[in-house]
Amino acid sequence: MVEVFLFMASFSGRGQGKLILMGEHAVVYGKHAVGTHLSRGLSLRLRALKRAPGRLDPLRSLDSKAREAYRSAAREAGVDPDRYGLTIASRLPVGQGLGSSAAFSVAASRALLAAAGRGAPDAEVLRLAGVMERVFHGTPSGMDAVMALGRGPVIFRKGAPPERLVPGRPLALVVILSGTSPSTRTMVEKVRRGCDRDRSTYGSLIDAAGDLVLQGLEAIRRGSLAELGRAMNENHAVLRALGVSTPALDRLVEKARTAGALGAKLTGGGGGGAVIALASARAHAGEIRKKLNMGKNSFMTIMRV
Ligand code: MEV
Repeated sequence: MVEVFLFMASFSGRGQGKLILMGEHAVVYGKHAVGTHLSRGLSLRLRALKRAPGRLDPLRSLDSKAREAYRSAAREAGVDPDRYGLTIASRLPVGQGLGSSAAFSVAASRALLAAAGRGAPDAEVLRLAGVMERVFHGTPSGMDAVMALGRGPVIFRKGAPPERLVPGRPLALVVILSGTSPSTRTMVEKVRRGCDRDRSTYGSLIDAAGDLVLQGLEAIRRGSLAELGRAMNENHAVLRALGVSTPALDRLVEKARTAGALGAKLTGGGGGGAVIALASARAHAGEIRKKLNMGKNSFMTIMRV
């Protein structure tokens, strides 16, 4: 059967990668978390199709979860998902805790709202992206999608509007990829099971993480890097106790500290993914990267307004 695709209107959207500085997992239980977007992101284009019968699947570039998420959001936006071919260009590694699914959700939501002839204010993008993120992650806090909007450093608390964070000085961070792909959904469920099993221990750990984030926030505002590094180190210890770190992540955290990081911890859901290390400045981040000697598996990012 000859395929005939005539490209007509097209709509595009973009979502940024994300980096959680502190507070992952505890944020699912209503605690504060801090993070920002990455300059790397994902761009998505929808092209209206006119085609002959016996057609190719217009969503063939998506795996089954992404397809389900996209179809749910399209229905919610009042757009027929089969009317559009979808192409994606991404510089985000998938499954490394850097928010590839949130970037996809935000990019698709922006494009779908445009296709529906509606405006795309952040609140509406987040509502639609939330539909997709629930397919990917079950019960997400919503923080990943907020960072994927690309609005810079934010303080996030579930159910409240995100607050803009103004660091007292730029934060130079080294992101280290472990190379193993975690499932955020699995890790969130693991913590949930822990809470059900032992409410008192898990509750105390989540409270401790929440307190550390508040200390980290104060340190960020004052520009006190030593204090922030200490809070990050302690946050990693709490995440370990919650059962979301791995021996490989712990080794990378140790390696980063030995290489001179002021603080280091896992970032995101854990169970694999990435580690972040705090440097005193851009040049110091370069030195840490050199000592780590991990080539493309590490990169630098500066958290600033
Ligand atoms: C995942 O990037 C962050 C978690 O806190 C889950 C969430 O906030 O939805 C682990």
